[in-house]
Amino acid sequence: MPPSKPNRRHILIGAAASAATASLLPLGRPQVAQASGFAPLEARKGAVQLAPSEFPKTEVWGYDGLAPGPVLRYPQGGRLQRQLVNSLPQPTSVHWHGIRIANEMDGVPGLTQEAVPPGGQFDYDFALPDAGTYWYHAHWASPEQVGRGLHGALVVTEADAPDVDRDEVLLLDDWRLNPEDGQIFADFDNMHDRSHAGRLGNISTCNGHYDAVIPVKQNERLRLRLINAANARIFTLALQGMSGWVMALDGMPLPEPIVASEPLVLAPGQRIDLIVDITAAEEALLLRQAANGEAWVQVAFPVRDQAASQPREAPAPLPPNPNMATAPLARARPLELHMQGGAMGGMASASYQGKTLGMRDLARKGQFWAFNGISGRTDQPLTRAALGEALQIQLRNDTAFAHTMHLHGMHFREVLEGGTYGPMRDTLLLGRGETRSIAFVADNPGMWLFHCHMLGHAASGMTSWIEVS
Ligand code: C2O
Ligand code: CU
Repeated sequence: MPPSKPNRRHILIGAAASAATASLLPLGRPQVAQASGFAPLEARKGAVQLAPSEFPKTEVWGYDGLAPGPVLRYPQGGRLQRQLVNSLPQPTSVHWHGIRIANEMDGVPGLTQEAVPPGGQFDYDFALPDAGTYWYHAHWASPEQVGRGLHGALVVTEADAPDVDRDEVLLLDDWRLNPEDGQIFADFDNMHDRSHAGRLGNISTCNGHYDAVIPVKQNERLRLRLINAANARIFTLALQGMSGWVMALDGMPLPEPIVASEPLVLAPGQRIDLIVDITAAEEALLLRQAANGEAWVQVAFPVRDQAASQPREAPAPLPPNPNMATAPLARARPLELHMQGGAMGGMASASYQGKTLGMRDLARKGQFWAFNGISGRTDQPLTRAALGEALQIQLRNDTAFAHTMHLHGMHFREVLEGGTYGPMRDTLLLGRGETRSIAFVADNPGMWLFHCHMLGHAASGMTSWIEVS
């Protein structure tokens, strides 16, 4: 059955509008503008045709006014040097998600840098040790700033690139638009969203289009770099008219490509690199499967030219990135992260800003979640690790919702049944009630955030950090 195209009836409103915007933390020291000579990356307002053409353009906040922002492409081993210019009415910063970065470039206000005030600049300048698919996004008032469009792809290319005909970034996002005028609903601190599954939208886009179209040739081989930049939406995807392999997860190559099977689950913050061959004679599709079982087209790949070449053999694995060894993980120090709270979660109280508060008082302060009984980031890290120490963290999701845990600055592996290790990742999805363990070598010095990437959850309690020194 052919999936239906999205249209006005897909734009259903889940929650009432409110003009409230995320509350601002006090401003830090103003940045002093320096002439760095770096190319600017300007955070500013723009307008994008997100919704079908019967709607007007949507006002967004985007890098260089675009949503998603420009695809930044650099060679592995190179340096990214860009000057963030803040032309927004709020402070901001940029986090370079998944990069094993120098800590002072990680973009976390109050932890690794001061927020950049309106009119300010900040020079980002760092090495890119790993090839792969990464992304960048605002890390100040993230539910609002990422929700308004401040994100983009960061692609680090291998010197020895795989043999493909084309390399395409597919950045998936999810927006909550007002069906009257196609503009963003500004209820970024909606309490229901924060205490439930997060801010889910009513229209989803690929590269800023609800109906992305990428013309192809039959038998063409494509590398598809999938990125989930949504605030809270978990994308469940299927391929039709093409077949292929998962080559990398969260930027890191798999030792052997895995045949892509349905569904491909892409949680907020995660990436999947695929290599696919177009087998369809007329049209291949990347389908998004909705929760109600309905599928609609996310990206169409119409075949404009028959048989560009003959079908090819399975691709060789991507070249590994440095420091992907697992051996030291066997001696990991055990830790626990008890994930608590939310609606129907049964959490009675948690510590917030040094005081123990009941759920009702936490909710008044916009807090709904906790890690190990503590709601929100404090000046105490989850743990202090010695440089080179291995840690194993048991993540116990004692809530009624899924969460997608992201560690800054380092990748981890899931510890699987029988003590084997899963692929390297920077973001792990935990279903409701699930317990999973991750292990990693704390080999990057600094203060690293560890939080749920459902951004409303992070902003209402699910944020901690790890110090490595
Ligand atoms: Cu992609 Cu702290 O985030
Ligand atoms: Cu969460």
